[in-house]
Amino acid sequence: MLETKVVCIQCGREYALSAAISGCETCDGLLEVKHDLEALKGVITREWAEKRRVERGFPNGSGVWRWRELVAPFPNEAIVSRNEGNTNLYEDARLAKWAGLENLWLKHEGENPTGSFKDRGMTVGISHANWIGAKYVACASSGNTSASLAGYAARAGLKALTFIPSGKVALGKLSQTMAYGAKTVQVEGSFDDALELVRRVSKEKGVYLVNSLNPFRLEGQKTIIFEALQQLDWQAPDWIVVSGGNLGNTSAFGKALWEMRELGLIGEKLPRIATIQAEGASPFYQYYRSEFTRFKAQKPETVATAIRIGNPVNLAKARRAIEWTDGVVDMVTDTEIMEAKAVLDRSGIGGEPAAGATLAGVRKLREKEIIGKGDRVVAIMTGHILKDADSIVNYHSNPANPGANPLVQMAGTLDDLMKLLEEN
Ligand code: F0G
Repeated sequence: MLETKVVCIQCGREYALSAAISGCETCDGLLEVKHDLEALKGVITREWAEKRRVERGFPNGSGVWRWRELVAPFPNEAIVSRNEGNTNLYEDARLAKWAGLENLWLKHEGENPTGSFKDRGMTVGISHANWIGAKYVACASSGNTSASLAGYAARAGLKALTFIPSGKVALGKLSQTMAYGAKTVQVEGSFDDALELVRRVSKEKGVYLVNSLNPFRLEGQKTIIFEALQQLDWQAPDWIVVSGGNLGNTSAFGKALWEMRELGLIGEKLPRIATIQAEGASPFYQYYRSEFTRFKAQKPETVATAIRIGNPVNLAKARRAIEWTDGVVDMVTDTEIMEAKAVLDRSGIGGEPAAGATLAGVRKLREKEIIGKGDRVVAIMTGHILKDADSIVNYHSNPANPGANPLVQMAGTLDDLMKLLEEN
């Protein structure tokens, strides 16, 4: 019998798997799921993973639940899944060249059921809520968590409550959240204010919280890395680059790599994690620059609303992930984000602005010679191109923007039209 626990990373206090808490009751530290890695050594192997990969059906057809021994050992009856994960890893020579690299892969998490990586964590969070008999589930969100929560809660028949920063959520995400039927509350202020409010609702009213403070969410998000490494035939890349806001992914990726090394799935040298923030929402970057001595929350602002976060809750875990992997943190401007996004979109792959931030970060780290030309780089595209259609139309309507593709009016002859096509 596997012994899986929930443990506080700060004071070590242990909790049962069935506990519905999102912070340590002794010291308010972050909680994490601790797997019995000793017992799993020799069981979870590359061969084991290859066998699981070809399984279909419920629940191992899911790119999350096929790793369930390393995620959460819930009974099948509790699992709420839409076969999330199983996303493509694209190798793209043009994008590699644009970023100054020879080897670039893009792991497209926008290909998940509700269009972002959040589904990988949400299937685990909602399954936990379902397992322990929660009635209400809630989150604060810059948009994708709420869309994912609303969708999974609808599948599970749970009532969902979401808090979003007023006027700062991209329409694709907002419309999903409304359509899936979550009660959506607009909060004056930023994501950080919305999160503070939902934490109170959770604490005082016992509503089940599924923000990334919830340790089960991050267990699901680890599978982005398990899956990418498997797609690379276990040849670990030199870098894993991801945009960071609340820093759940950064934290989850560090834990995934650590566990994979413990289990012998990859070698001793871990890929380095590079977290990319937007300039106007870069508290983790500033903290990193101070060699993790001074943290200051920010009033966030960026065109990439997904990562418009000034006080990331997973700070301690993310710092650990950067330290474990000899990682780096950098930031990119809104202009760099939108230009990289235009290039990403034009490649035919596409992604929301936060995915553009990842790609812009790859190029920036290459320009700074932090990433070497021959390094093997996996860039995580965190959300789908349709999530934020407004930002696309705005960008392409301004002919001064690099690669802009403004709408044209039909006028003149068909020959005029053909001339226009040639110019394009
Ligand atoms: N990319 C996208 C598309 C996101 O939606 C988010 C976070 C991030 C990157 C940052 O990930 O928080 O793990 O560092 N979105 C959250 C939300 C906050 O509410 O949807 P992180």
